Amino acid sequence: MTDPKFTNATGAPVADNTNTMTAGPRGPALLQDIWLIEKLAHFDREVIPERRMHAKGWGAYGSFTVTHDITRYTKANIFSEIGKKTDLFMRFSTVAGERGAADAERDIRGFAVKFYTEEGNWDIVGNNTPVFFFRDPMRFPDLNHAVKRDPRTGLRSADNNWDFWSLLPEALHQVTIVMSDRGIPSNFRHMHGFGSHTFAMINAANERVWVKFHFRTQQGIVNFTDEEAAAVVANDRESSGRDLLEAIDRGDYPRWTLFIQVMTEEQARTHKHNPFDLTKVWPKGDYPLIEVGVMELNRYPDNYFAEVEQAAFSPANIVPGIGFSPDRMLQGRLFSYGDAQRYRLGVNFNHIPVNAPRCPYRSFHRDGAMRTDGNLGATTTYQPNSQGIWDNQPEYAEPALAIEGPADRFDHYADDDHYEQPGNLFRLMTPVQQQLLFANTARAMGDAAPHIKQRHIDNCTKADPAYGAGVAAALGMA
Ligand code: HEM
Repeated sequence: MTDPKFTNATGAPVADNTNTMTAGPRGPALLQDIWLIEKLAHFDREVIPERRMHAKGWGAYGSFTVTHDITRYTKANIFSEIGKKTDLFMRFSTVAGERGAADAERDIRGFAVKFYTEEGNWDIVGNNTPVFFFRDPMRFPDLNHAVKRDPRTGLRSADNNWDFWSLLPEALHQVTIVMSDRGIPSNFRHMHGFGSHTFAMINAANERVWVKFHFRTQQGIVNFTDEEAAAVVANDRESSGRDLLEAIDRGDYPRWTLFIQVMTEEQARTHKHNPFDLTKVWPKGDYPLIEVGVMELNRYPDNYFAEVEQAAFSPANIVPGIGFSPDRMLQGRLFSYGDAQRYRLGVNFNHIPVNAPRCPYRSFHRDGAMRTDGNLGATTTYQPNSQGIWDNQPEYAEPALAIEGPADRFDHYADDDHYEQPGNLFRLMTPVQQQLLFANTARAMGDAAPHIKQRHIDNCTKADPAYGAGVAAALGMA
């Protein structure tokens, strides 16, 4: 700042920031103290709505560097050559807690990355788990209402939470992960991240493959037990954010290796499960991890509100060479994030510096609340027009996706296998991990009603009788 003069919002000097103007030394305040009024009025509006889910979070800047060639799968400019480096911003979060919640809670962790590519912003808005509780977006607001506070008591409710989860057998896979030893990562650096959904990659020949994204931590996996987490929370509600800040400040930059799994359209047709089912993983034996590059976080934001609170990630933000899949959950999310951000931040939220593209861009939209750039000046914003602007760019069109069958509300729950993959996960655990799973589940179920506990035991038993028996014993319901 060349002129450090302290001014009000319209640039006039503030003469007194200490004493309110009054009628006489002991009299009432005067309405003409416009600085007091401006100061209080701005203060009254300093809080914006928190994110409906993932309200508590922390961010950092960094970069992504390509180490392996995947141009046979995608023409995305970010992957165009080995050594190519792209700036990024990422935000970690917990899911159910409010903005002031403690970090070290048993919960999923959000893992949202915004790559500022030369062809626009590409966001992967994932979690630290490869699957989710269900596979139809119709259920998402219900999840929110089940895991957030009870409408009568205002308290978190194990009864609501487990009533909902146990009535959805397809949730068992995700519930098993969250109740396992990985359910409380010690901090954000020591956990993996996943794009979770199936996405598309499109190459220069305009051929499509299906992909999943895996970010594997180079710091190793480290988790808290319930007891360790309780001790941490008692002393520090910001343990994961603090860990991220301190690691970056001391130059110990966290890194993740990005891998993809690839499935051809042909393989998708004969894959054992629906390849677009978010409650299932693609077995690594069949679809091996293919290494792509390294993500590093190396700069902590200068201002939490400006950069972290106002960050807006969306799975809808893709670039040429990356595409969506028919995953219903992904399709629902394509609407929900931008919609939430227009409400939370305003229609011009993409102009906020952390959200703005870093490449040259020219968007068609104009006007709207808080438009702070030149609003396209005199540029024509209708099409067709005689200037030939805003025309189609067919070179960016994706290959057509073959769809068949009637439009209907298909119940893909009826004849499906909800238990094989959670059972496999259970059988992969060591006896110690299995005991932790039982004990964590019993503690988390707390005072949930007995019939809800029994329903969950029955689900676990279908995955593996030993899983059901272990949870039943831990609940004292053997
Ligand atoms: C945040 C909706 C499923 C990961 C949010 C927000 C909404 C939302 C409205 C707040 C956005 C904002 O205000 O900026 C939904 C819906 C879902 C869904 C409707 C299902 C139909 C998922 C899944 C994942 C996920 C499956 C992970 C694989 C996240 C993350 C954030 C978030 C990481 C926080 C992003 C940030 O750090 O700003 N979600 N979500 N969500 N969601 Fe979802």
